[in-house]
Formats: sequence, structure tokens, C-alpha cells
Amino acid sequence: ARTVARGDDGVVTVGGIEVTRLAEEFGTPAYFLDEADFRARCRSWADAFSGDADVFYAGKAFLSKAVVRWLHEEGLNLDVCSGGELITALDAGMPAERLAFHGNNKSPEEIERAIRAGVGRIVLDSFQEIVRVAHIARGLGVRQPVLIRVTVGVEAHTHEFIATAHEDQKFGIPLAGGQAAEAARRVLGLDSLELIGIHSHIGSQIFDTSGFEVAAHRVIGLLKEIRDEHGVELPEIDLGGGLGIAYTSADDPREPHHIAKALREIVTRECESAGLRVPRISVEPGRAIVGPTAFTLYEVGTIKPLEGLRTYVSVDGGMSDNIRTALYDAEYSVTLVSRASDAAPMLSRVVGKHCESGDIVVKDAFLPADLAPGDLIAVPATGAYCRSMASNYNHALRPPVVAVADGAARVIVRRETEEDLLRLDVG
Ligand code: LLP
Repeated sequence: ARTVARGDDGVVTVGGIEVTRLAEEFGTPAYFLDEADFRARCRSWADAFSGDADVFYAGKAFLSKAVVRWLHEEGLNLDVCSGGELITALDAGMPAERLAFHGNNKSPEEIERAIRAGVGRIVLDSFQEIVRVAHIARGLGVRQPVLIRVTVGVEAHTHEFIATAHEDQKFGIPLAGGQAAEAARRVLGLDSLELIGIHSHIGSQIFDTSGFEVAAHRVIGLLKEIRDEHGVELPEIDLGGGLGIAYTSADDPREPHHIAKALREIVTRECESAGLRVPRISVEPGRAIVGPTAFTLYEVGTIKPLEGLRTYVSVDGGMSDNIRTALYDAEYSVTLVSRASDAAPMLSRVVGKHCESGDIVVKDAFLPADLAPGDLIAVPATGAYCRSMASNYNHALRPPVVAVADGAARVIVRRETEEDLLRLDVG
């Protein structure tokens, strides 16, 4: 978060409030989200893509009603991928026409709800879904704008991409074998669907725009095929999300303006050589907007030095509030934030309180050797895919999300309580 500062006493402040005070008031573990930083990131994406492009925030990264209001106020659109995300968006007042509805297995109920609400676009993911959405739209007397999600054969990794001949994953309709062209043919033949564009999402935590360039090249190849066969020039292409953030100092993310420039250039170039009008571009960043805006605050509980190995530092949360280390071998950093320390660095592993050894929050980190139970430590860059992927494993109570702005802090998602847990258990 941009408004985090450290005083001479080593105590960190966020948005002008000391973390020790935040811990007293809101308890630990808790996620603290810097609202000004969130809004600034929204604005910089909106600016970079203004005019001929649209930004859809990917709600899966983190969604709450406050977040929906901020997005609305900052002029962003929103990508939802479940009935739950859809109702959160609508309930918080996001105009339905600014929503995109994604997913590889949307239920008929979810589709109907989305169409009735008037969502701006549904991204079709399979041949069966084309028929399903068309049928429901027809029943409701709606001509629903849709995009077709295609798999372009680009598999994006952190620092590179590998072009694969066949995509072996569940999303989208392959370009290979003319399948995506066949999907377009079918959609164009259905009165209740209005084909507005092609969608591609190549992966996550990507730093290099070259994967997007290959994707744009192939998507525009399909636009050309569609134009040649049907005489229709589709007005949009959506290049998905996946822009990386700095989890540790080893990561070097690109600014939205750099990304926008690169995407505009490649799309313009490809369209010129295909003789197509340049379509409107959309992107769907989730992590790049919310990821850096929050950190998780934990209290140290026990400290276990293992001779010749490392010191295990146990905190009051763990894989239930951040599954990413266990699931993706993700890298995080950690800092002592409740006081200053001159003690020597000690090789540490920050672990949670869950009943398995893979319950690791930070794999390798240096913490001061005088670390003691009761110290507060912060793990930055936990705004994306931490609260949204949090679980109740071991009947953990999911932590709150606290928004900090202008020297004031307020809960936007409250801490789960024992009553919440017991309420669902109808025994
Ligand atoms: N658009 C589509 C169609 C997506 O599937 C995703 C992410 C995004 C946009 C947003 O991607 P972002 O900009 O946030 O990277 N849970 C994982 C990542 C899975 C993301 C799935 N789709 C994680 O914690 O890293």
C-alpha cells in the first residue's frame, strides 16, 4: 500500500494510523486495505485505457460492497464469475450494463438472473453454453450481448510464455481446428445473441506483454476469418487479466500506461495488416488493482528454532487466510511492524496454526532474532486472492477486511464469529 510509513520507533502506520492501534481495535489476523491506494490504482487503469478501451476489474481477486462502490465511483466496470459475485455487485448498486459475466459452467439459474438483471455482456465458454444462453435469452425476449472466450494456445507463466499446440485446460473454445470459428458461426445464427467480440485470458501474474501480443495476433486472426466468412467486423476484443504485481522485490511489474500502450500498438498493427477496423479493447485486471493495496497483520504466537535449519514462527492465521503459498508455492515477504529492532536477522518460516505441515504463509524470510510472542508482523500484497480464497479449515474464523482512509479505519467485511460458524451447522 502506498500510504504505509515506518516511524523512528519502528511502528508502522497505514493511512496515518499505527498498526498497534489497528491490532487493538480490530484484532488479528486481519487484512488492512488502503482505500486511497485502491482508488488511485483504479484511476490509473481507467486513465491508461480511456477513450478506446474499457477496464473490467476482476471481482474474483477480492469483492465486497465497498469495493463495488469504489469501482463505480472511479468509473471501472466489473467482471463477475458466479451468482454470488453478481448479487454482490448488483446489491451495491453497480449498473448491470457495466458487468461482464464469466465462468465455464454457469448454471441456468445464474444465466437467467444475469440476463434479467441486464448484464452488459456474457462471456460464452462452450458450445453447450451458447445454446443454453440463447435459449434463456429467447425465453426472456432479450437479445443478449455476448463474447466468445477462446483459447489461443498461449500458456503464460510468470516471466515467459510457451506456445502450445493444444490447450489442455477447461476454459474457452480452442482456436485450433476451427472450433472458435464454428462457435462464432453458431452464435451469429442465433437471434437472441448479439456477438460483440472475442475474449482471451492467458494466465496470471504475467510481467511480459509478449504473451498478450501472441494472443492479440491470434484473436485478430479469428476476427478476420469472421469478417471474411460473414461480412461482420466484431467491435471488441477482450484480452483478459493476469498482469503481475510485486510480491517480493524480485518482481518488476509494469505500469498500466505501459501495458495499454503495448496492447494498443499490437492491436492496431495487427488490424491494419488484416484490413480490419480497430476494435475496442478491454482488459480485466484483478490482482494488479487490489493485490498491492492490502496487507495481513498477524500476531506471533510461538517461535521454534530448529538447529541448523530455520526458525518456525507461528502466527494466529495461516492457510485459511492465505492459501496461495500452499497452493502455488507463492512468494511473500514479511516485516516486524510493531516496534524497531536492531537484532541480527534470523532465517524464518512464517507458518499458521492449522493441522498440516504445508500450512506456510511465508516460506523464507529474515525476521529479527529478538522476535517474541506478541510481536505484530505484516505480510504485504495480500489484497488479491487471499480473503477471496479464505476458508474455514479447522473451523477458523475468516478475518475481517478493514479499509483505512484519511486517518480512519472501518470494517468493510467483518470478522466471522463463532455464531456464524454454528449457524450453518444445523445438526
Ligand atoms: N479475467 C479472467 C477471465 C480470469 O480468469 C482472471 C483470473 C482474471 C481476469 C483476473 O486475473 P488477475 O488480473 O487477477 O491475475 N487464484 C489465483 C489466480 C487465478 C486467477 C483466475 N482468473 C491466484 O491466487 O494467483
